[in-house]
Amino acid sequence: MAGNWKMYKTPAETSAFFEVFRPLVAGAAHCEIVICPPFPDLAAAVESARETRILVGAQNLYWAKEGAFTGEVSGPMIRATGATHVIIGHSERRQYFGETDESVLKKTVAALDAGLTPIVCVGERLEHREAGQTEAVLCEQCSNGIAGLDAAQFAKIVIAYEPVWAIGTGKTATPEIAAEAHAVIRREMRARFGSDAAGSVRILYGGSVKPDNVKSLMAQSEIDGVLVGGASLDPVSFAKIVNFPS
Ligand code: PGA
Repeated sequence: MAGNWKMYKTPAETSAFFEVFRPLVAGAAHCEIVICPPFPDLAAAVESARETRILVGAQNLYWAKEGAFTGEVSGPMIRATGATHVIIGHSERRQYFGETDESVLKKTVAALDAGLTPIVCVGERLEHREAGQTEAVLCEQCSNGIAGLDAAQFAKIVIAYEPVWAIGTGKTATPEIAAEAHAVIRREMRARFGSDAAGSVRILYGGSVKPDNVKSLMAQSEIDGVLVGGASLDPVSFAKIVNFPS
């Protein structure tokens, strides 16, 4: 269960979030919990998550280890904060910051080299879905991006299916629509990496996940977890999502 805070919260607000969140999820042993705050909050999040099962991730990285790349942050730098995960190729990065399947692949390899678990995002836009191109778009994103990994690299990633039309819009994909897309992604992964690897890769659903719809999404066997934006900013609401089985 991963929370993507996007460009919200300061270090002080991060610590305040954890004060409330920690006890609420202390009993959650059924899943991994990852919080992905903005870069300046990573240290505060790691400190607040110490001696808990909560993991911390970044929302982006640059593929070089270091160098003259003003404004960028590398995998080793993120790992050095104590963070363990990184979101890669989120649709907002693809849409507003020019990320492509090729940059997603380079960043995924860089994250793995730095010892981080990449959460690699794919997903179609509304016009794709309306034109019946969802499957083609997902296949293209998978074959230009994730399929460029080798088997050992693939075994270490998490995939997130995030239909762009469902992000921050309040429009959640129905559990059936989400499961269908997950099945397409898994099929593509099976063709590239074989049944065992494709069967065990975790695929998260993201897009307007809330406390009141998480249970029906998680009831789909194809959906292994969720990537939550807006509803992860409030500790009570994200704890309800994490604790969905109870
Ligand atoms: P949302 O965002 O839950 O606010 O729709 C999800 C995401 O962008 O990861």
